[in-house]
Amino acid sequence: MDSCSIIAKLVPLTTLFTILVISRANEELMMQLCHNSHNPTMCLRCLSSDPTAPKADQVELARIILRCVNSHLITLTNNTSTLASKHRRDPKAAAALKQCGLGYATAKRGVGKADAHLIAGDYDNAAYDVSMTVEAPSVSCRASLVTLDFNLPSSFCYHTEVYLALTQALLRIIDRF
Ligand SMILES: *[C@@H]1O[C@H](CO)[C@@H](O)[C@H](O)[C@H]1NC(C)=O
Ligand SMILES: *[C@@H]1O[C@H](CO)[C@@H](O)[C@H](O)[C@H]1NC(C)=O
Repeated sequence: MDSCSIIAKLVPLTTLFTILVISRANEELMMQLCHNSHNPTMCLRCLSSDPTAPKADQVELARIILRCVNSHLITLTNNTSTLASKHRRDPKAAAALKQCGLGYATAKRGVGKADAHLIAGDYDNAAYDVSMTVEAPSVSCRASLVTLDFNLPSSFCYHTEVYLALTQALLRIIDRF
């Protein structure tokens, strides 16, 4: 098993804790929205980290999740460039990391477009952006990096897993609008 899959198994362990600390207000709506995702914990943790969540409607809650996605995206973009400079003498790794960087730049634009579509109530296009331009580049980045023979730092794996868990949760939420 590669190091990324081990991290993926550790991520759900904190469910109970998150459910205990979540604010009471709006609790039911948040539970409802996060319930259908593979990782409700990550979804609820993101929502409970935002001070505006207790008064938010469902579209605003979706936008909060998008902001959490964006914050992991910023970290992953940083990590990708740090890794790229570390591995610049390894042509295969450098090429894969460069591709990842381009993918994350696309994802950055995708986040902006998805947010604008959510605000405009254009949920089909919001879902399309999240799926094709926010989620897909990270899936293909992870796939190309795990086939390479270098140790992926656990923080990179962790942020990738959280990023993908949150994009998946967001897609489930938008699908029901
Ligand atoms: C990326 O993160 C590292 C360590 O966390 C930090 O030193 C560096 O300044 C960051 N780079 C950018 C471009 O934000
Ligand atoms: C990824 O970025 C985060 C935040 O900038 C930093 O804490 C972490 O050490 C970085 N990991 C790598 C592998 O660059």
